Amino acid sequence: TALIARLQALVAESPVPAAAISAVLYTLQDARGYIDDVALHAAAQLTGLSPVRVEELCTFYSLVLRAPAGRHVLRICDSIACHLAGAQDLLAQAQAYSGVALGEVGLRGALTVVPHVCIGLCDRAPALLVDGEAAGPVDATSLAQWLEQWEA
Ligand code: FES
Repeated sequence: TALIARLQALVAESPVPAAAISAVLYTLQDARGYIDDVALHAAAQLTGLSPVRVEELCTFYSLVLRAPAGRHVLRICDSIACHLAGAQDLLAQAQAYSGVALGEVGLRGALTVVPHVCIGLCDRAPALLVDGEAAGPVDATSLAQWLEQWEA
């Protein structure tokens, strides 16, 4: 299929197959919505890494989702600058609003909230990614506006 050809091209362009793992995972995720066990094993086979190692890397790359996400994904940076600027409060607020644990799908399929490593907006902390778009600084009021809009 076209997807397999694209994945093979990513591996071929890489200095070593294992170096293509993040690109392979993100491409699979774009195509399938998240990395299920079939995708995980395909990524392992393509890159020559063990499935256990790929599973570890899925945890390391905080953009990788191992379960289906909601229609909107809120990734709240909790690295040091954002942590010091109140990221934990934003995470708690978003999680409480979603009504489910971090990484799960809440608001009847509308929302998944996950913590995230630094997104390079440290000078605008606390920062987050809203459906892949970076925003910051974010406060309780602006966060509530996003959340309420998604509930509708
Ligand atoms: Fe949050 Fe860098 S620490 S954007």
